[in-house]
Amino acid sequence: MSVSKNGMVFNEPLLFELKSRGKAGMDLPETEIPLLDGTGLLAAQHLRGAVAIPSLSEPEVVRHFTRLSQWNYSVDGGFYPLGSCTMKYNPKLNEAAAAIEGFASAHPYAPYGCNQGLKRLLYELEQDLAEISGMDAVSLHPAAGSHGELLGMMLVVAYHKDRGDHKRTRVLIPDSAHGTNPSSASIVNLEAVTLPSGPNGLIDLATLDQMMDDTVAGIMITNPNTCGLFESQIKEVCDLVHARGGLVYFDGANMNALVGVARPGDMGADVLHFNTHKTFSTPHGGGGPGAGPIGVKSILAPYLPKPILVERRGQVQMDYNRPKSIGKVRSFYGNLGVLIRAWTYIKTLGASGLREMTQSAVTNANYLKARLKDHFDVPFVEQRSMHEVLLTDKKQQEAHVSTMDLAKGLIERGFHPPTVYFPLVVSGAMLIEPTETENKETLDQFADTLIELAGLDHETLAAYPKMTPVGRVDEVGAARKPILTYQG
Ligand SMILES: Cc1ncc(COP(=O)(O)O)c(C=O)c1O
Repeated sequence: MSVSKNGMVFNEPLLFELKSRGKAGMDLPETEIPLLDGTGLLAAQHLRGAVAIPSLSEPEVVRHFTRLSQWNYSVDGGFYPLGSCTMKYNPKLNEAAAAIEGFASAHPYAPYGCNQGLKRLLYELEQDLAEISGMDAVSLHPAAGSHGELLGMMLVVAYHKDRGDHKRTRVLIPDSAHGTNPSSASIVNLEAVTLPSGPNGLIDLATLDQMMDDTVAGIMITNPNTCGLFESQIKEVCDLVHARGGLVYFDGANMNALVGVARPGDMGADVLHFNTHKTFSTPHGGGGPGAGPIGVKSILAPYLPKPILVERRGQVQMDYNRPKSIGKVRSFYGNLGVLIRAWTYIKTLGASGLREMTQSAVTNANYLKARLKDHFDVPFVEQRSMHEVLLTDKKQQEAHVSTMDLAKGLIERGFHPPTVYFPLVVSGAMLIEPTETENKETLDQFADTLIELAGLDHETLAAYPKMTPVGRVDEVGAARKPILTYQG
């Protein structure tokens, strides 16, 4: 048994391991259905063998799951600086809106003309996202950022095909991109070609000029990129790609650095996805749920998935009459709960609030950079950081202390670590994204802790974390020889 600093006991058995002596959480009433053979039992051949599920009382089950939930680290519980993930606080008003009866129980097959409130909300959200990004049309269908990327690349393929341009089978993707970019391109049979960044961590125009030929369908750009740097030549990059017949895909996962200040559509993007579950709250640690709406310029609008929302005679309706549409990528209207939260967040903050959100996110990241830059290696230090700051373990490596050691040390001190070993363009990366949620006191506590940990020796750090249910795990073993059943 291990006991944490706050006295939490970590010896929770699995439900299967709890002694279950015929207890039950509920009593089922006697069946009112007439029995087939009159004996009160089904014929033997219809009986299933004993089901190996634990039989436990309701309080035992509730306590088990409540205890487990308290082990979780959450954005409601503490600072969550996971770079590239924008783990911001999710205002409780969003939850109240998503739980409104008319939204929560809306039926997707409700008759034509029904669900007007919900459809109006979605229609408004589309318009707000178009305005925020500078795009002409928005589809709310995709259920995640990567799903938005996939849809965006399907549109790029449809566009070139429609023009009879069949040579374009490759996509340029900077080496700093998120792994989902090349995989989205590959799924639609485009070859993902790595575009090496220049020494300043940004896209190098000369390299792009060499690689951008008539076999290239487009480029996928994350801006700010995953090093937290703004692609200062974005306009020139987009112009060059357009001049050679390609399209620009803009990975909008980092929109928390741009909303209310700059618009990808004005920079030259033809298609972008939002990670609503980052930029507009509902942070998605643990894998979901999400929503990855895409915005497009009018040249791509005919290919959007159907139905699209249209306003006719004061009603919001679904338009299925879309002859060039690529079809469907998801059932019904999209991941509603997340979209309702995004609408609520946008309407609550308004235009000036959204701008302030972005400015605070960028200020917070730059504050941490200023606090940490004398203690850690900061790649591309001469560039201004946007909403996240990239450090490496280069200085600490001299004392054999690694990024992993520092991450485990942070856990020991009660913090969630930043994203580690991503992006891959630098060795031993620590990508810290504080978001606008945090105040100066929290940022200082985090910076002080990281600086303190950086001064510890390897032996001390190697023993961390001690105060968690599981200490250091054999990560290679966990990946190569996973044990996937509780019985081992
Ligand atoms: C830069 C970037 N692009 C795309 C994605 C994919 O988004 P999702 O996790 O919603 O599929 C992420 C996710 O972290 C990201 O950071």
